[in-house]
Amino acid sequence: MGWIEFGHDDATTARIAALAEQIAHHSHLYYNEATPEISDAEFDALWDELKSLAPNHPQLRRVGAPVPPGSVKVEHRFPMRSLDKATGDDEVAHFVAETTAHGRRFVAQPKLDGSALSLEYRRGRLVRAATRGSGERGEDVTGNALRIPNIPDRLSWGGDCHVRGEVVMHLDVFREKYAEIAPNPRNLAAGSLRQKNIEAGKGDAADLTFHAYDVHFIPNEEKHPDSPDAPEFENDSESLSWLRKIGITPAEEVVVEGENDEDTTQALLIQTERWTQERETSAWELDGVVFKLDDLAKRELLGQTAHHPRWALAWKFPPEESTTVLLDIDWQTGRTGTVTPVSRVAPVVVSGVTVENTTLHNAGEVERLGISIGDKVRIVRRGDVIPKIIESLGPAKSSDIEGRFHADGEPFTGELPNPRSPQIPTHCPECSTELKMDGAFLRCFNLSCPARLTRSILYWCRALEMDGIGEKLVEQLCDVGLVKTIPDLYRLTSEELQSLERMAEKSATNVMNQLDNTRELPLDTFLFALGLPRIGPELATVFAGEICTMGNLLALTEDDQERLVAIDGVGDTVVDLLMTGISDRSAILEDFNQILTITDVARTEAPSGPLTDLSFCITGTLSRPRKEIALKIKAAGGKVVSTVSGKLDFLVAGENAGSKLEKATRLGVNVLSESDWEEMLQP
Ligand code: IVH
Repeated sequence: MGWIEFGHDDATTARIAALAEQIAHHSHLYYNEATPEISDAEFDALWDELKSLAPNHPQLRRVGAPVPPGSVKVEHRFPMRSLDKATGDDEVAHFVAETTAHGRRFVAQPKLDGSALSLEYRRGRLVRAATRGSGERGEDVTGNALRIPNIPDRLSWGGDCHVRGEVVMHLDVFREKYAEIAPNPRNLAAGSLRQKNIEAGKGDAADLTFHAYDVHFIPNEEKHPDSPDAPEFENDSESLSWLRKIGITPAEEVVVEGENDEDTTQALLIQTERWTQERETSAWELDGVVFKLDDLAKRELLGQTAHHPRWALAWKFPPEESTTVLLDIDWQTGRTGTVTPVSRVAPVVVSGVTVENTTLHNAGEVERLGISIGDKVRIVRRGDVIPKIIESLGPAKSSDIEGRFHADGEPFTGELPNPRSPQIPTHCPECSTELKMDGAFLRCFNLSCPARLTRSILYWCRALEMDGIGEKLVEQLCDVGLVKTIPDLYRLTSEELQSLERMAEKSATNVMNQLDNTRELPLDTFLFALGLPRIGPELATVFAGEICTMGNLLALTEDDQERLVAIDGVGDTVVDLLMTGISDRSAILEDFNQILTITDVARTEAPSGPLTDLSFCITGTLSRPRKEIALKIKAAGGKVVSTVSGKLDFLVAGENAGSKLEKATRLGVNVLSESDWEEMLQP
């Protein structure tokens, strides 16, 4: 098995260091000083040798001088323009009529609702990634762009080009990791690109995906003499296929065409309908459909205004909003002690869904909106995961709540509440502990708060994929006092479980089995499942890679703080959260240490190992949580992806694997059982 990377001998280690140093030196001369000392071929030979000896060497992911995000402005070689917008069918017809002299064939793509990014490749290597900014100048975000899994640092074409696209966050990832801390995936995508550290509240660029919609080439007379000439395309659709071939993921596209204007308009409107439907199940937030003339020469003829090209149109989904009445505000304590306001509103249909509760995000938001109970409010579900109140329209009248129905079709019989200002609670609604403000958030710091306990237990169970233990069961267990801390779960007996309402022997056995399967777990999984504020799976892995053993975790002191902050991409805030989280839970951690087997994690030197450069997708029922498998793959240098494509190296398939297994077999992707996979991990 030639791809396995064994430990290096001294001579190889020295060679790797020398290569990295030379590449850093020559990259600087080439990219920053424009005074190369060696030929491209010589440079490529150094690069290729380093790649073969240490495929994950950080120098291979570095070009020129990496700069902190946001500190350097980038002049766009090709301005990043906006798009002309439309919402009505007649505007689409108008656009067709205006462009029709130049052709009736259009590329239709979903308009992805994320953050625009420009990738500059020189001689096939990513040298700069920049945000859109003003369209003329953006911010250098190269370091973070390199963390985005589907952005290659090297193309399979060795030329000079600028690739443009949208960076988005998968909605599943948003819901799982960020829904509590950010209003929508778009803000997170923008924040993650520009943040300086893997830091609280902003998201991690590694959770983003890039979809290209455009490519520009440096004119042949200006490009580097050793770079190949720019390919020549007649149509945009050809350039998108070409991008796919050189390693870039283009946004999905279809080419639509018609015989005459009316026919063409109809063909475009079919796309707006199709995407309106697909929006519901789309993995990413969309805000419309972009139509672009396919013929590139004709685009040139049409030209652009200062604001937008004349050959493109963004058709936007109609805003999904409605008005209703704010009936009350409830305050709920979550796992990390954050007390979140939830508004109760008179039932209202927003984009086909009956809404009766909406989140107000945090205490600061209530103040910012200046809403009162009894107000008529404007509520929007603009592809956002949860509908939001965006403004107060003043005191409501009783006619504002007439003729409303609950989701089950029953008429709404509630009355207009007495107008009153919302009271931000001073004490926890669950345990009455005095609350404290923490930025815009209101928090309960009582670790034994019952609301925090049930939420933490659920988080633990979800993190370890114990899906037999749901909200009802956890509430029952806590209510009857069988479980007072997470470790108590592991002291439950089958008889105790069966003594609960609606708990038959079979379900009790299922719960016991699920608990038994998680009695042994590695430190990184443990740290994640513990659910410390803002410490998700990635940060847990990063910390576990430094702390390594449960013994070290229990013995963490302030002296370790510096070492943890020194980890690449980790900031002070999260280290503080880790330290306080651990010291506040010292008794529980001792208890865990007695009752569970928490296995050591190897120190993270560099993310390279037996699985370096290999991609994996995981499917089916396996003997341990998928997250644990994913973390192991990453720790061994591999990459974990969520979809099966021809490029995938391995599918790890457990029992009852379905469509992914089918697709992998069809595409000839290697399929591994869990034990095959375990074997691969062996050095
Ligand atoms: S084409 C000349 N295609 O929408 C501009 N843009 O409102 C070429 N966007 O800044 C852009 N999805 O960031 C294009 N499939 C798509 C898009 C798309 C999202 C964004 C893009 C642009 C903004 C304009």
